[in-house]
Amino acid sequence: MFDMRSAIARKRDGRRLEAGDWASIVAGHQHGLVDDAQLAALLMACVWRGLDANETAALTRAMVGSGETLAAPAPNCVDKHSSGGVADSASLIVVPLVAACGIPVAKLSGRALGHTGGTLDKLEAIEGVRTDLSPERFAAQVRDVGCAIAAQSERLVPADKRIYGLRDRTSTVECLGLIASSIVSKKIAAGAPAFVFDVKVGRGSFLTKLEAARDLAAAMVELSESFGRKAVALVTDMNEPLGPAIGTGLEALAARDFLRGARGGDRRLRALCERLGTAMLAVGHAEGDLLATVERALATGAAYERFEKMLAAQGAAGDALEKLTPHKTLTPLRAERSGYLATVDPVALGLAARALVERSGSSAGIVVEKRIGEHVEAGDGLATVYGDPAAAPRIADAFAIEDAPPPERPLVYWETGSPGTLSAGGRTAARSSVEMR
Ligand code: URA
Repeated sequence: MFDMRSAIARKRDGRRLEAGDWASIVAGHQHGLVDDAQLAALLMACVWRGLDANETAALTRAMVGSGETLAAPAPNCVDKHSSGGVADSASLIVVPLVAACGIPVAKLSGRALGHTGGTLDKLEAIEGVRTDLSPERFAAQVRDVGCAIAAQSERLVPADKRIYGLRDRTSTVECLGLIASSIVSKKIAAGAPAFVFDVKVGRGSFLTKLEAARDLAAAMVELSESFGRKAVALVTDMNEPLGPAIGTGLEALAARDFLRGARGGDRRLRALCERLGTAMLAVGHAEGDLLATVERALATGAAYERFEKMLAAQGAAGDALEKLTPHKTLTPLRAERSGYLATVDPVALGLAARALVERSGSSAGIVVEKRIGEHVEAGDGLATVYGDPAAAPRIADAFAIEDAPPPERPLVYWETGSPGTLSAGGRTAARSSVEMR
């Protein structure tokens, strides 16, 4: 007979729990035999004592078993996950891009959380687009169009929703084993045989230390492999917004323009999309020069065509992409002094853009015009605020200018992956596109 008090005490005292314990804990909570107070006590013990690889795998297996699991929509399809960032429209770009390169993409996504944007909200800013696809319709679209982005079904990993809610209320999110099992269980249940994880690190991520981000990346790859899946994880910078646009409709618009070929504008967004795209092709067993394949799909318009097809399959009207325009009320934010842009607070900008969208609609938000490290003259434009002008003065506080340039930062700090995925098909992305401020 499973004894929850004893399991809590063992974890509290630094001992490991067996696979059967984890199964009993998850099932017990699901069926009311383990209450929230007991689970919260155990979660706090996990934060202090940690979970080893076997415990993390056992917890993940128990979470997957709490709901339905889907079959892979296509044998070589891939899924992509970002741990959450600001101005991160990469999913809207790389999903059709990779599909246009011949590898199907079956992506289940979430909504905005705190200051970080949600892919579903950005898609739904495009008129008519639906993300509540049934598992059957989702799989059929991946087979017919090559890609789909849909909301995670409530029927997959229901235990995660309950446990994550409790972690949120009890400040027990910050445990590598709990985070890895929460993320990977949802990917396993969704069925794709290969994943790419984008683990954000920096002041705009819930992981601020590089070492912790690397540990999480390695744990998620190892965990995925223990379920027979292939995975690559990148640790990427989130000390400033990834792309220029922040806000649901503005990010959809930025993705549209990027895929249409207006790519010169933002080096960081382009570099990360190339890097993620080639990693997704590599885990999907694509062959040849993967970077050249990605660049060709962008240059020929094949990636944009796939974007249009994906949106049409999910309900967008023919002119929905043309209707994406920024809000008509705009307020420029200007530098008050000359110097180097030293910091741009992604949390403040993410929260401000979310509030602007809530007040002024999906065409509102912020477009950042300068990058950390750039030299600015007094009066230069730093950003434009779209929507309610009353928000502008506080948004200006997110930008700090100093006399000396800040140290350079990489965009991609680290990469790890299943055997054969990192060098598959030659180049994955030019090094020169990776080392930047
Ligand atoms: N995202 C998740 O899905 N789960 C976590 O535990 C943390 C981030």
